[in-house]
Amino acid sequence: MCKNAEKQIFDYLSENLSPKKLEHSYNVAILAAELASKHNLDIVRVRTAGLLHDCAKFMTDEEFIDFFKKRDKTLKYFKKDVIKFSPHLLHSFAGEIIAKEKFKIKNRDTLNAIKNHTLGRKNMRAIEKIIFIADCVSYDRKLEGAKRIRNLAKNDLNKAFFEVLTKKIEHIIDKGMWLCPQIIDTWNWYVSNNKKDN
Ligand SMILES: [Fe+2]
Ligand SMILES: [Fe+2]
Repeated sequence: MCKNAEKQIFDYLSENLSPKKLEHSYNVAILAAELASKHNLDIVRVRTAGLLHDCAKFMTDEEFIDFFKKRDKTLKYFKKDVIKFSPHLLHSFAGEIIAKEKFKIKNRDTLNAIKNHTLGRKNMRAIEKIIFIADCVSYDRKLEGAKRIRNLAKNDLNKAFFEVLTKKIEHIIDKGMWLCPQIIDTWNWYVSNNKKDN
């Protein structure tokens, strides 16, 4: 990605996201780039995914629903349930579309990292795990154990990923919120595959 393209992303985020969400996006990008460097991945690609992961988070629930009604794709079997119980989850899927359409991102790993940063999926690539982890334990997050998980992620991406996934599901259950089938599928896949990387 050239400097100009990255500036375009910065400008877009500054114009559309609240200061808090903008700060979060920067922090996710910073941690994601650190993890990419530790794990010998393409730093620019991972940083771009980090910057863009919440690029659709300026929309209201109604706007998310409209956005997908116009396109009528992506969400498969659970679309209606997501719309009914947890429409904010749509921001990950909308983010992927914005990255593709507005910023012409073509790399499938980058797009998947944006799309799956909230719910995960089976057989995730390292870049997807990094964005999933960085979203939850970035430097702006107050999550208990965030610093320890950041350090763990530098040494063992899989362990850190599984810990974040566990914490996320525990939090949803503690709050009595709806558990999306996609995150259950992610959990089941990693448990049945012994938490291995692909
Ligand atoms: Fe998000
Ligand atoms: Fe986020």
